[in-house]
Amino acid sequence: MNVSVKNRIDSLDILKKKAIKSQSQLNNSIVISVCSGTGCKAYSSDIVFYALQKEIEKNGDSKSKDGRNIILRKTGCHGYCERGPIIVIHPDEICYLGVKEENVPEIFEKTSKGELVEGLLYKDDGSTIVRESDIPFYKYQQRIILDNNSKIDPRSIDDYIRTGGYQALAKALLQMTPEEVIAEIKKSNLRGRGGGGFPAGVKWETTKSAKDEPKYIIVNADEGDPGAYMDRSVLEGNPHSVIEGLIIAAYAIGSNQGFIYVRQEYLLQSSRQKIMDCLGKIF
Ligand code: FES
Repeated sequence: MNVSVKNRIDSLDILKKKAIKSQSQLNNSIVISVCSGTGCKAYSSDIVFYALQKEIEKNGDSKSKDGRNIILRKTGCHGYCERGPIIVIHPDEICYLGVKEENVPEIFEKTSKGELVEGLLYKDDGSTIVRESDIPFYKYQQRIILDNNSKIDPRSIDDYIRTGGYQALAKALLQMTPEEVIAEIKKSNLRGRGGGGFPAGVKWETTKSAKDEPKYIIVNADEGDPGAYMDRSVLEGNPHSVIEGLIIAAYAIGSNQGFIYVRQEYLLQSSRQKIMDCLGKIF
């Protein structure tokens, strides 16, 4: 590995360590995560978020009874939009469903004391479920693409790097040839998320071998399937993963210009494209 390649990998490692260090401060705190995906926003999750913010400010230096800081953050869609707005309180993963503004003082008070707001927990056949991952909707799912949605703030590149983001890009750009990237994608059986489920590796290989230049990479996030939201959830909840994939694909097919085709109605996604500016931090 030459010196310049090593330096770039080192700088990504430094950023990752920094992000993990700031996460360790979060680990010693109580983190109230408010889902701010489009579904929950439609149920007024923003009002809940600002009410929580005010409640925290009202209580000054907000600490729980056991001395931990109480921190508020926004996340992307958790997937269970029909029961929004959803709040998950970490580290115990306490999940409150259908939260309203008027619930906020009780949530804050009970969270500070280490107690639960029973009325907002999931109820199933007479039993009450506290942790989000124990709710039947999540329990039998293997969440691959959307797994980090409920754990990261989509606006934070540090959150993305902390959870391993941009490592695959660094490896592809600095340690692999475009052919090796395509072979890896073919081996992985990665498919499109649309109805056709077309194999990504085959698409990339075909585009790479096309003779015409220049080549462009286009992320089709138009989402023609009515109400599917499979693109929307990932673009809003984990946008850096899309950008990382875009750059890897561009490298593999020999393109140096890319576009993300987003619906005008998807305002949240469009605003998150600003994170592209952050990429200068790494590459
Ligand atoms: S937008 Fe909150 S669960 Fe989907």
